[in-house]
Parts: sequence; structure tokens; C-alpha cells
Amino acid sequence: MTLKKTGKRIGILTSGGDSPGMNGAVRAAFRRIKANDPSHEVVLFKEGLNGLAGRLEVNHLESIQRQAMRGIMHKGGTFIGTGRIPELKPCPEGYPDPEAWDRRRAEITDVAVVNLRQLGLDGIIVIGGEGSFKGLSHIISAYEARYQDRLTLVGVPGTIDNDIWGTDDTIGFDTALNNTVDALRKLRDTIESHRRCVILEVMGNSSGWLALTAGIAGGVTTIMVPEKPESYDLDRVVSCIRSALQLKYRSMIVVMAEGVKKASKNPRIAEELRCRVESDPVITELLGRPLETRVNIIGYIARGGQPSARDNLLASKLGFAAANAALDEGALESIMVGIQRSEVVWSPMREVIENSPRLLDDGSELWDIANSLLISQDQSF
Ligand code: F6P
Repeated sequence: MTLKKTGKRIGILTSGGDSPGMNGAVRAAFRRIKANDPSHEVVLFKEGLNGLAGRLEVNHLESIQRQAMRGIMHKGGTFIGTGRIPELKPCPEGYPDPEAWDRRRAEITDVAVVNLRQLGLDGIIVIGGEGSFKGLSHIISAYEARYQDRLTLVGVPGTIDNDIWGTDDTIGFDTALNNTVDALRKLRDTIESHRRCVILEVMGNSSGWLALTAGIAGGVTTIMVPEKPESYDLDRVVSCIRSALQLKYRSMIVVMAEGVKKASKNPRIAEELRCRVESDPVITELLGRPLETRVNIIGYIARGGQPSARDNLLASKLGFAAANAALDEGALESIMVGIQRSEVVWSPMREVIENSPRLLDDGSELWDIANSLLISQDQSF
């Protein structure tokens, strides 16, 4: 059954890892849709993709009023909840029962497709990362194949990883960067007091944007990122620490992206580095004692908290643009709104998915900047 309607009906969900600023994006999209025509309706899905592919009566909110968007912008996380559905991905290689996986994937897709039809949506805005874009695109393709009808999908890049192709910045990245630099400054106080070493693991599953930018802005000793195998060569890292000691530094700080564990095929790499530093004879000789080393993980602390002004501004720009795109009568394909050189741009979702995750090499000079600013293996000045 398709609901009778006057204006357009646009669905909004936040999906995947939450990121600070998602609330501002929902608010901006909602307000733009209503300002365009008050008879347009907005449907909010709770808990991300789980809401879309779950029991409709408990998982969505209709007849949203302006008041629902008050007082949410300054809060971290996402007030409508988020979630992931790993089974929406194609069956992973080596999975023992691919048929069961495909069956489950088809079942979930079916529920989502029927829900979308029942709600009579004209467009859907998803605020999230690469996995969410892929999941939603898969659902929309199934919807269009089943009903021979178009449904506009508009993506808004929201992830602290900053790894989405088609945008210079993603919503949440700036806040996570500030949170991480704040943590580094606090770590420095204690590490400097004791003249110790710390290895800080930060989020970034496939890309090292957060680790690299926080490392530069926080002025650390060295950085380990998944894209640069030389960065996680432990001989190199130990040499950098030796150099720092030779130069009489009191704090030795290594920032490591979590994705290094996967890239190096060594889930215990941080711990291994800690042991190497503590038992390194050159370091012990330089310091006159072993260099005490701790491994800290910042984890969700970087992802939480009040969004920065910059993230809320980005969220407002992209939420506004996403609403315009979702209401666009002439939209022929799914797109993502992004920001490039301070301008709002639209990219075909197909291209965004093909080219994401965006890795550090994508036109960025940051790695070279880090190499010239941080301690190198043979630093002599
Ligand atoms: O997708 C963003 C991210 O922050 C990744 O860096 C990280 O691997 C992932 O979320 C972990 O999130 P969760 O614990 O919610 O699965």
C-alpha cells in the first residue's frame, strides 16, 4: 500500500559509526525541506539501517515538527540513533555458508524495500560513511528493480575517518581531530614529566587521516598509518625514538592508526613496539635506563562529545544541500553532497562508492609535511 500524500516525503537516517555533527545535518536537511514547502513530510528512521530494515512501527518517526530539531545541534552522537548491518554486504570471501549469507542478505533487503514502498518515500538522505552508502545503494537498486520506480538517494559524508571520496572533509572529522589533539596534549604533560614514551592508537580502519593530521597538529615524534608500510616498520619507529632521545626530547609520542594492525597483519603491533622500545640497548644506553612505554587507545573518546563549530557549519551546509538534492525533480541518479575547496559539490554515488575509502595519497601533501616536521630516523638538528 502506498500512502496518499500531497507534498514530497523524504526519509532521513544516520548510519554506521556516529560522528559529531550528524545532528546538525539532520536538522539542516529537515528545516530546508520544510522551508521549501511545508506540505513536504520528513520521516526519520531510528538506529540507522536497522530502522530501515526493521519493524516499521517501532523504527520510524513521522509528522516531525520543527520543535523536534531544537536543542540537538550542540550534542555529539546522533539523536535518532545509528547502526550497521554487516549482512547487507556481499558475502565475505571464505565465509563457510555463502548461500545462507545471500539468503539473509536478500531477506533484509526485502524488508527494507517493502518499508520504503509502504512509506511512499520520494527520496532518502543517508548521513554516514562508505559502508552506509553501499548498503543503501544496494537497497535502492533492489527497490527500483522491484517497483520499476525511481527513489532518489542522497548521501551526506559523516564519519570521523575522513575517508570518503568526493569531499575534502567529512562531518565529525574536525571534532575527532580536536579531541585527539587534546588527548595528545594531556598525554604530553604526563609523558614529559616522567620522560617516557607513549603509543596512542586512534581510529581509522583503512585510512590514516586522523592519525596523520592529529600527529602533525599535536607535534608527535612519529606516526604509523596503514597506507604507508614504511611508517609501521618497527626498526624505523625505534630509530625515530633513538633520535628524539639524542636530541634530548622528554616526551616520545607515537600515534598509530588502528588500521595498521590489519595492514601489517599484526594485531599486537603496538604491544610489540612497546617491548622493542623498552628493551632497545641503544635507547637504554642513551637514557641510562630503559624507556618506560605505555600503549593508550583513545577509541570512542575521539568520536564523542560536542561537535566543533566547523563540523556544525559543514553539517548545516551539507544538510541543506542534501535536502535540495532530494527534492530535485530532475535528479537522475543517486548522488553524494560534499565539500571541495570550500564549495558544496555533488558527485554521483556510483563514483563515490567506487573510489572510497579515500586513502592518504589522494592528492594530499600531508605525508610529506609530516616527514619534514616530525623526527626522522637520522635526525641531526
Ligand atoms: O567508521 C568509523 C570508525 O570510527 C572506524 O574508524 C572504526 O573502525 C569504526 O568506526 C569502529 O566503530 P564501531 O566500534 O562502532 O564498529
